[in-house]
Amino acid sequence: MNMHPDCERIMLTEDQLRARVREVAEKVDKDYDGKRPLVVGILKGSIIFYADFIRFLTMPVELDFMAVSSYGSGAVSSGKLNIKKDLDRDVKGRDVIIVEDIIDSGFTLANLKALLTERGAASVSIATLLNKAERREYGVAPDYNCFDIENEFVIGYGLDYNEQYRHLPYIGILKRSVYEK
Ligand code: PRP
Repeated sequence: MNMHPDCERIMLTEDQLRARVREVAEKVDKDYDGKRPLVVGILKGSIIFYADFIRFLTMPVELDFMAVSSYGSGAVSSGKLNIKKDLDRDVKGRDVIIVEDIIDSGFTLANLKALLTERGAASVSIATLLNKAERREYGVAPDYNCFDIENEFVIGYGLDYNEQYRHLPYIGILKRSVYEK
């Protein structure tokens, strides 16, 4: 496989991603048997995982999207969640599956889960591609997770650095020299 020159190494290949995403999606399919969940993708990082994940689902689903960011800056997320694009659908009484690329501090997903629950969702579960458990600061955990990873700077398969590298079909580790310039 051709690796981008800004990558230190490939952490997860296309084949590894496909196999595990399929496995997790099949579990979700079983768990939601008889239901018609609203599958909510969080832009932009989740797009590739989302597109692959939903294609392994056989149950009827509806698709929707949100774009969020946290106010303030700095290493530790502070303040409230800023909704840049809200859902088109009403979540009241719906079973919602939030699809995210990565859970880091947990700030985003803790707030999103609370928000959708407050809006009256019947249930809210979280499906993540990557989990950086050692970085957790907020009390939230994915219900479905594909890979537990160390605290590395990961790019590709939707994940970016300065809006670059999202289109790479694998998950790579970014070279330190790229972000320590
Ligand atoms: C990333 C990721 C999560 C969040 C995780 O989004 O997609 O939403 O950060 O971090 P947390 O657990 O500390 O809240 P980002 O703000 O980079 O936007 P993007 O999805 O558009 O890349």
